[in-house]
Amino acid sequence: MSGIEITPARGRVGVLLVGLGAVSTTTIAGVIAIRKGLARPIGSLTQMGTVRLGKRTEGRSPRGAEMVPLASLDDLVFGAWDIFDDDCYAAARTAGVIDASLLEQIRPELERIRPWPAVFDQRYVKRLDGPNVKKGRTKKDLAEQVIADIRNFKTEHALDRLVMVWCGSTEVFMTESPAHETIESFEHALEENDPAIPSSMVYAYAAISEGIPYANAAPNLTADIPALVSLASRTRTPLAGKDLKTGQTLIKTIVAPGLKARLLGVQGWYSTNILGNRDGEVLDDPESFKTKEESKKSVLDYILQPQLYPELYEHLCHVVRINYYPPRGDNKEGWDNIDLVGWLGYPMQLKINFLCRDSILAAPIVLDVALFLDLARRANMYGIQEWLSFYFKSPVHAPGLYPEHDLFIQLMKLKNTLRHLKGEELITHLGREYYD
Ligand SMILES: NC(=O)c1ccc[n+]([C@@H]2O[C@H](COP(=O)([O-])OP(=O)(O)OC[C@H]3O[C@@H](n4cnc5c(N)ncnc54)[C@H](O)[C@@H]3O)[C@@H](O)[C@H]2O)c1
Repeated sequence: MSGIEITPARGRVGVLLVGLGAVSTTTIAGVIAIRKGLARPIGSLTQMGTVRLGKRTEGRSPRGAEMVPLASLDDLVFGAWDIFDDDCYAAARTAGVIDASLLEQIRPELERIRPWPAVFDQRYVKRLDGPNVKKGRTKKDLAEQVIADIRNFKTEHALDRLVMVWCGSTEVFMTESPAHETIESFEHALEENDPAIPSSMVYAYAAISEGIPYANAAPNLTADIPALVSLASRTRTPLAGKDLKTGQTLIKTIVAPGLKARLLGVQGWYSTNILGNRDGEVLDDPESFKTKEESKKSVLDYILQPQLYPELYEHLCHVVRINYYPPRGDNKEGWDNIDLVGWLGYPMQLKINFLCRDSILAAPIVLDVALFLDLARRANMYGIQEWLSFYFKSPVHAPGLYPEHDLFIQLMKLKNTLRHLKGEELITHLGREYYD
């Protein structure tokens, strides 16, 4: 098989992060620390993962970056927008995720990253307000200011390519409206300051218009509307999202496929969290929480397929709670209680207590998604990149399809996509050839 033609990963890549909070600062500081040999990229598939090629007997398992041309960490340059004007060092100290002693060692690099003024409107994130905000007559003006920031950044750092990841706060719950239907209706809505266009869509529009790959790390409605998907195919821009799969949902999508594989029934799944960072504060607002809740709850329905297994999963009671509890900061604690049913209907219980670090789980995902989106762009893959579902709680997908949530199917899809790009045989796990 011949592979897909991929432009080499030469030159520098600008990583544009919207929001310079816990996830962004942990990503940036992590990359800089790794680059300097101060830490290891644990959790990153692009940096540590391998992909088996050929038969099990061949012993070929290159690392991701040896297999497909990925940008090197040394070539990444970070830029960000935020409503607060703290530089990246100060923002990382506020986030409180990375130890002060490590931050001190990379302080000059972090201090050089100062956020550009944000496109922000409190009606979409009720619990926040800050001084570093752009002014514009219309949302179209604001999008043009974002494009100007991007172009200046590109020139200033002599960048070859760019990617954008929304790492801003979760916006209020919104559904698709007529303004989101076509590129024309969307652009008209930008001119008219239509409330159907939240701040996140202004950034997404700016990126996609410029052909810059775009991912949404949060659950809000952003690039997953027909107008922006059409714009992405016009500008040949790859899209990915949404809502990073970390913490409790990561564990859920690891455990649920296992229970289903063994045909164990699930009567109830009660998930609760305590979280004390700014994200937790934003999610304390019912409208932002609704966006998150929808994203977290859909996972089990798709994995367990109650329509195919009504006796096992039809009456599943799935409850998700997030409680804002400041003393914990970014160190979230999640509890899951799962009520199971086994052979002859005997009940069992499984309890999971995950003391995780939200942004430590999120940062390698932001890095991988940025590198893979840059790869997709160079491989001329545009529109929704379903093979990146692996990283997201609510994978964006084509209309009429159901999203794939099972972490192991998602991983297989991702690795097979890399094999396909390289012109290697796809792995089906049939394995008959070893016994013939
Ligand atoms: N940490 C995780 O594991 C995780 C997992 C899934 C999703 N997320 C989502 O990722 C996002 C970031 O999480 P976080 O923990 O870094 O939150 P955070 O509150 O620490 O950071 C978000 C930052 O975005 C800024 N912001 C908000 N609106 C903005 C706008 N319009 N323009 C520019 N900046 C804006 C805020 O000022 C803040 O600094 C949240 O939406 C969160 O729900 C996080």
